[in-house]
Amino acid sequence: MKSSLFIKILREKKLLLPPLSGYTDYPFRVILADFKPPFIITEMANARAIVQRNRRTMQILKIAEGKQYNGVQLVGSIPEYMSRAAKIVEDLGFDYIDINMGCTARKVACRGEGISLMKHEVRACEIVAAVTDAVDVPVTCKLRLGPSKQSMNVVALSEKLVDSGAVALTIHGRSGEKKFGLPVDLRIMHEAATVLTIPIIANGGIYTGSDAQQMIQATGAAAVMPGRGLIGNPWIIPEILSTISKTSFTPPTLQKKKEICRKHLDLLVDFYGERKAVLKMRSILPQYFSSCFFLKDLKLDVQQASNVSDIPMLLERLDDTKGYTIYDKNKK
Ligand SMILES: Cc1cc2nc3c(=O)[nH]c(=O)nc-3n(C[C@H](O)[C@H](O)[C@H](O)COP(=O)(O)O)c2cc1C
Repeated sequence: MKSSLFIKILREKKLLLPPLSGYTDYPFRVILADFKPPFIITEMANARAIVQRNRRTMQILKIAEGKQYNGVQLVGSIPEYMSRAAKIVEDLGFDYIDINMGCTARKVACRGEGISLMKHEVRACEIVAAVTDAVDVPVTCKLRLGPSKQSMNVVALSEKLVDSGAVALTIHGRSGEKKFGLPVDLRIMHEAATVLTIPIIANGGIYTGSDAQQMIQATGAAAVMPGRGLIGNPWIIPEILSTISKTSFTPPTLQKKKEICRKHLDLLVDFYGERKAVLKMRSILPQYFSSCFFLKDLKLDVQQASNVSDIPMLLERLDDTKGYTIYDKNKK
């Protein structure tokens, strides 16, 4: 995919999906593809592990069929591994490459990867230059406002990343000292969108179509990226797309949610096997029904699930009563 096409679609559709480690795996990307997003991206994949063809990392790189453009997010700190991994994923057929500069997980940051790259600007630029040299597909970066409140360097660093070859930047509107606890700072994202010559994708705290619309208005960003709002809610894709294009959106019925959740389970079983599928469902299933009454009971019960057959039983206990979804733990 050429950078000009990437930017054209990004500006037109105004929506990119997030990398979510542990969630945007192949099974969920298959589900997401059915909702016709313009772009889908993998969870972060370690560059060195790709170069070494690590089996579990290569699993991350399976492309979901669909009309969308597919991205892969690379995490790493060594330009040579990053560029070699980039070439490998380009050859696999990915349409764009994103570089993780925002992950605050200790095992990532302590290796000089993720958010650490915002502290080491020269290294961050070397990586972008090496990756853009190695591939023809567009290269983007995903950053936070800065490593900490005391060091909000996203605008200055972004200008250097543009000079190094990045064609668009996602900014998660929080600094790095807390994972997700801080309020999103729209002001700095607005400054970045004003100063920079390339499109900015605004991220942080988007859970609805109207959140997306407000984010674009407040920041002047070219596009938005939901985050946790996508987990258990692929309907956020048509919701955001229709809000932006001023068309109507019909929220899913409970029956539809159950159907997609069930399909998600089946895809997890096919991809990982039954044991891992059930473990994954423990965190995924409650997200599909996060507004139901007695959610606590549902969460407790799904923690007890040990067989795949337990999951449809839990879904059976969800009912619609006068427009509210209720989980009835006593229903047999
Ligand atoms: C479970 C989880 C996994 C995540 N994995 C990644 C990742 O692999 N790469 C990345 O750049 N950001 C990752 N993020 C950050 C999100 O992409 C997003 O930037 C963040 O959740 C902020 O958006 P939100 O406030 O709408 O959730 C992750 C976040 C969560 C909650």
